[in-house]
Amino acid sequence: MKIINQEQKEFWNEKKGKIWVSLESNIDKMLGPLGHNAIKILNPKSGEKILDIGCGTGSTSQSLSKFVGENGLITGIDISEPILNFAKNQLENRNIKNIDFIQEDAQTFNLSNFNYDAIFSRFGIMFFEDPFFAFKNIKKSLNSRGRITFICWSNREENDWITLSSKVASQFLELPPKNNPREPGPFAFEEYSYIKEILTKSGWKNINIKNHKENIIVGKTLDHAAAFLSKMGPMSVPFENSNEKTKAKVIEALKECYSKYLIPKGVEFHFSTWIVSAYNY
Ligand SMILES: C[S@@+](CC[C@H](N)C(=O)[O-])C[C@H]1O[C@@H](n2cnc3c(N)ncnc32)[C@H](O)[C@@H]1O
Repeated sequence: MKIINQEQKEFWNEKKGKIWVSLESNIDKMLGPLGHNAIKILNPKSGEKILDIGCGTGSTSQSLSKFVGENGLITGIDISEPILNFAKNQLENRNIKNIDFIQEDAQTFNLSNFNYDAIFSRFGIMFFEDPFFAFKNIKKSLNSRGRITFICWSNREENDWITLSSKVASQFLELPPKNNPREPGPFAFEEYSYIKEILTKSGWKNINIKNHKENIIVGKTLDHAAAFLSKMGPMSVPFENSNEKTKAKVIEALKECYSKYLIPKGVEFHFSTWIVSAYNY
């Protein structure tokens, strides 16, 4: 029997999941400002029930939980066991009671009895094998006045932090073959018209897609930035699998490339995203 999203399931449960957890604080510093902008647009209210899709290590679930308060509930859903284990430990350590986590595939998990007020996602909805089916499925989790806001990467050419870094690393590492533009992966939703088509065909209404650009520091020094970004994007697993000599070459080449992005506060890249909102009505 074919398992839906098998490749992504393996990817996020194996080496990539462990790398993602090990980079948690760096990732959160980088994605935090972008996520906060999307949360502002979602406008979560006290007492609401919100589903956080592809919630990862749970940082956005925790931010959302502060808005909804003790009478609200955040459910984080994620396909990765190692990543969710980290998220669950954080809850216990911080004694947070209004979040729960489900380890499931959001494309196929039966969400029809949940009655959420809203859905949120920070870069967690670009990995579905069949996004049309997935967006129909997640819509079933909402009440009739429900809404969604998510943030995803826009045009890869406007995201040097990953595109340029992969190009540099590809001189030394064998990177996975390039995806077709719409295949599951960070840039599956880079086209405005494709997002619109998915949401429209899966029954969402009042769709708004806004290009949000922001400059963000990815590391205080060239060393920090290269150590971090060498483990992100398509080079993450090949980099981890390579020998020390190759790793050193990648790091040196990244540092050289990043020197033109160095400002007094650190290495700063320009990020380009879509913040997308839509409604059940
Ligand atoms: C790029 S990470 C983003 C994580 C988190 N939202 C953040 O901003 O830090 C993508 C997340 O989506 C999860 N994911 C991928 N496919 C999924 C699916 N079909 N259902 C649920 N989660 C999925 C991965 O396990 C991973 O944690």
